[in-house]
Amino acid sequence: MSPTVVRAPGRVNLIGDHTDYTGGLVFPMAVDRWTEIRCAPHDRVELTSADEAEPVSLPLRVDDPTAVSPAWGRYVAGVVSEMAPTQGIRGRVSTTIPIGGGMSSSHALEVAVALALGFEGSVVELAQLTQRAENRASGVPTGIMDQFAIAGGVAGHALLMDCGALTITPVPVPDDVDVVVQFVAHRTLVGSAYADRVRECATAEAEIGPLRTADPATAASIADLVVRRRAMHVVAENRRVLDFADALRAHDLAGAGQLMLASHASLRDLYETSTTQMDAAVDHVASLPGVYGVRMTGGGFGGCIVALTEPGALTDGWRVTAVEGARVLDAAP
Ligand code: GLA
Repeated sequence: MSPTVVRAPGRVNLIGDHTDYTGGLVFPMAVDRWTEIRCAPHDRVELTSADEAEPVSLPLRVDDPTAVSPAWGRYVAGVVSEMAPTQGIRGRVSTTIPIGGGMSSSHALEVAVALALGFEGSVVELAQLTQRAENRASGVPTGIMDQFAIAGGVAGHALLMDCGALTITPVPVPDDVDVVVQFVAHRTLVGSAYADRVRECATAEAEIGPLRTADPATAASIADLVVRRRAMHVVAENRRVLDFADALRAHDLAGAGQLMLASHASLRDLYETSTTQMDAAVDHVASLPGVYGVRMTGGGFGGCIVALTEPGALTDGWRVTAVEGARVLDAAP
């Protein structure tokens, strides 16, 4: 039998961070960097990687993905433990997504493994399964945005996603802009304050109800100062996602850029997921000619910034374009 080839893109979020785990709005796109798995059926899950010294070898039942070694195998194990497949795979992983570079290389691996193991459900089901796999593998209660964007990418479009209704509205990315990702600092969400933020949002919702439908005045009335700030960020960020999508549709690039800057300021001041290094990188890029807007992107505490610019304005970083979501390619020769 000829081997199967599966390809899953990376992602970058243009605006809407720390809104997904309260069922809010995000605006990512799947980007033109890919993780590929080339594999054949096998009785275990055995993968080598072009970027990792040690291979992964797993049985078809895994109880505790966090105990798997080498560490990259935990993402594979998370998917295996969720799927409990009857048939394994043997193959090789390669990627053009910068590993640990903030473009979701680990999430792309999870989605690719699920497809390689024969997952056959919808985009939403694939995103849900790989989100659960990630939560199990990392122990961090991350939201669904990353896997949803990787599974549901649309070429040439950013994705207005409602993480409560689990819907995607593709919005064209104008031809005359660049989206540029710059890596600033390595980070991992394991051991970060990410889980604290998830808890703080739950506390806010226990007081005022769903943040997705709360208005700014209600968020601003929360008694506890820290919880109030977190809620104010989420409520305003959901609004900014809608305004950003409208600005792109109207080709108001300056307006879109201002919303990115406001989003960064909110992550810095209200949500407190930025760092002085990230702030300095954003301030620097914002001061350059031809830059409409720039912000920290993703979980924070380090990672990447993303800029919207005139074509060619920013040569430092990865220029990315929007591509279709993960899929099984035709069988390889
Ligand atoms: C990480 C998580 C996502 C999301 C972002 C912040 O990337 O994996 O679910 O919460 O942080 O927007």
